[in-house]
Amino acid sequence: MLLKNKVAIVTGGAKGMGRGIALKFAEEGCDVVVNALHLDGAEKVAEEIKALGRKSMAIKADISKSAEVNDMAAQTIKKFGKIDILVNNAGGVSGVKGGDSSTATEADWDKVLSVNLKGAFLCCMAVIPGMKKQKYGKIINLSSMGAVNPAVSVLHYHAAKAGVLGLTTNLAFELAPFNIYVNAIVPGPIETPFWDSLQPPGPQRDAFFKALAQKEVPLGRMGKPEDIAGPALFLASGMSDYITGQVIYVAGGQPLLSHAATFLSAPRE
Ligand SMILES: NC(=O)c1ccc[n+]([C@@H]2O[C@H](COP(=O)([O-])OP(=O)(O)OC[C@H]3O[C@@H](n4cnc5c(N)ncnc54)[C@H](O)[C@@H]3O)[C@@H](O)[C@H]2O)c1
Repeated sequence: MLLKNKVAIVTGGAKGMGRGIALKFAEEGCDVVVNALHLDGAEKVAEEIKALGRKSMAIKADISKSAEVNDMAAQTIKKFGKIDILVNNAGGVSGVKGGDSSTATEADWDKVLSVNLKGAFLCCMAVIPGMKKQKYGKIINLSSMGAVNPAVSVLHYHAAKAGVLGLTTNLAFELAPFNIYVNAIVPGPIETPFWDSLQPPGPQRDAFFKALAQKEVPLGRMGKPEDIAGPALFLASGMSDYITGQVIYVAGGQPLLSHAATFLSAPRE
């Protein structure tokens, strides 16, 4: 077991990649706090974790609010005594339409940045003091391909996810002397509820995913939460104990492509 006796917080753990990561960690012996915006989904995942023989707790907290984040960290310490691993997974563009330079609004910018960048910052700030004291910690941040090689313009989201990479490298540099590792995963297109507001589930979405995978992903398929859970486990475990400040692209080979003319963006004249 790669995470025996470890304690993790996975933000946005009720569904999608967060759920996949939480379950993978539990299979490897980790007790997991499942954070979500709504308790019911998080509790379901916590029950799945308990069924695997691990301890778990569901915590409702909006990661963009420092009081809720600090309370989540305090509750975790109270119940489990420590926090070894933080996965900053919660994020997305839910409730925000468009986002290129002609449609992005200040309100949307504030909303998207507060969840996707400030949220990760606040969660890091809440766990770092304890990690420093115990001289051990693994922090894994979820970015996005759009931060480095966008196929469509979503200004605020991609800027936030690029900020996540800056947060990762700076913290990795600062915290290395404390044996705290900070790395990032850059996912490609992964089939999760993330897409619900962009492409509602149904045959049309299936066709969209198929076309997207064929045209934009060298491996020719959409990713699944398990595709992210494996690399997250690697970064959370002792298998990566000489790796910090790094970015792993888990994107079916997408970084190999140029987006000059793609499926999602209009071909250049
Ligand atoms: N699915 C993709 O194709 C894709 C690609 C690149 C990056 N990402 C990123 O990967 C991460 C996981 O995405 P996913 O596809 O599993 O998304 P998802 O929508 O399935 O799950 C995200 C979870 O985060 C939670 N969340 C959102 N805002 C929150 C907040 N303020 N506080 C607490 N929880 C909050 C949501 O409720 C949800 O449970 C996200 O950061 C997303 O931006 C996703």
